[in-house]
Amino acid sequence: MSLPRRSTFFHYKPPLTEKNLPSQQGKVFIITGASSGIGKELASILYAHHAKIYLATRAEAKTNAVIDEIRRLNPQNPRSGFLARESRLDVLWNNAAVMVPPKGSVSVQGHELQFAVNNLGHFLFTKLLHPLLVKTANSEGAAGRRGTVRVIWVSSSAADHVAIPAIDFSNMDYRRRGEGIWSMYARSKAGNVLQAVEYARRVGEEGVLSLTLNPGNFLTGLQKTMPRWQVFLFKLVAQDPKNGAYSELFAGLDESITQADNGGWVSPYGKLESVREDLLDPVLGKRFWEWCEEKVRDFM
Ligand SMILES: NC(=O)c1ccc[n+]([C@@H]2O[C@H](COP(=O)([O-])OP(=O)(O)OC[C@H]3O[C@@H](n4cnc5c(N)ncnc54)[C@H](OP(=O)(O)O)[C@@H]3O)[C@@H](O)[C@H]2O)c1
Repeated sequence: MSLPRRSTFFHYKPPLTEKNLPSQQGKVFIITGASSGIGKELASILYAHHAKIYLATRAEAKTNAVIDEIRRLNPQNPRSGFLARESRLDVLWNNAAVMVPPKGSVSVQGHELQFAVNNLGHFLFTKLLHPLLVKTANSEGAAGRRGTVRVIWVSSSAADHVAIPAIDFSNMDYRRRGEGIWSMYARSKAGNVLQAVEYARRVGEEGVLSLTLNPGNFLTGLQKTMPRWQVFLFKLVAQDPKNGAYSELFAGLDESITQADNGGWVSPYGKLESVREDLLDPVLGKRFWEWCEEKVRDFM
């Protein structure tokens, strides 16, 4: 265990907000888990700035309601295009997550639910989108724009407090040894950091930037399965989820971030800081990457 970073509670002023974000006309973005919380706020800001955004979600009716709400809030934007085919992808925000579900929750494939949603789903999604990301990075690079094509693996301050080693490969389904549900969440969020760092190692040469972040603390759908007393305490530090979108905006779009920052960590609400040392371990990163690869092989 380590002490929290100062930025977990004392946040930086967001460099990018809806007030100073330049037009995103012509850009194509994907946000996973945009039917709620931070992802919804991020989609709303980007839509108001004329981006074409795909909301990668699971609940169609809930997502359509969010799209209607975003359109209602931004009536000046006539775009409708989530369902059309694209020839470019500028930024992928791997934002969806589940946190502390009832113990024993597993995915359809039988994986512990937090590893499944937070890591395996995003791993597969990114793999499938990788060729398009590289193609976009190539065309951006040819136009003299580098570091604009990015994958953002949304993590959490929980990753700063994960056990060491962060991933216990002998107990990935938690059947061999029981473990607290918070510890399991922290492992999945450390998994997001490992994914970001390892993806950066693998795709840096291809011009794609890969970053991870802690958005901040917000009362969203994420706490729906959290015990009430914990929610009560959490409310004491929770802020407007729009600030979480600022953290994600910074990571995805801030022009001060360059190829040299690949694999980096963004603290709330938009500042580069270092990744926890042990999560930079290339052996651990490679092993986690290969574990993900093995688990999604049948879907590729
Ligand atoms: N809120 C915080 O304080 C906080 C702090 C640190 C990190 N984060 C991170 O920030 C990100 C966004 O969280 P949030 O606070 O905005 O939470 P949220 O409101 O619960 O949003 C999470 C999104 O993930 C989606 N999702 C959950 N399970 C899924 C599945 N099996 N398949 C597809 N989508 C699924 C949800 O879809 P449904 O609506 O269909 O359930 C929802 O759209 C997460 O990565 C989270 O770990 C949040």
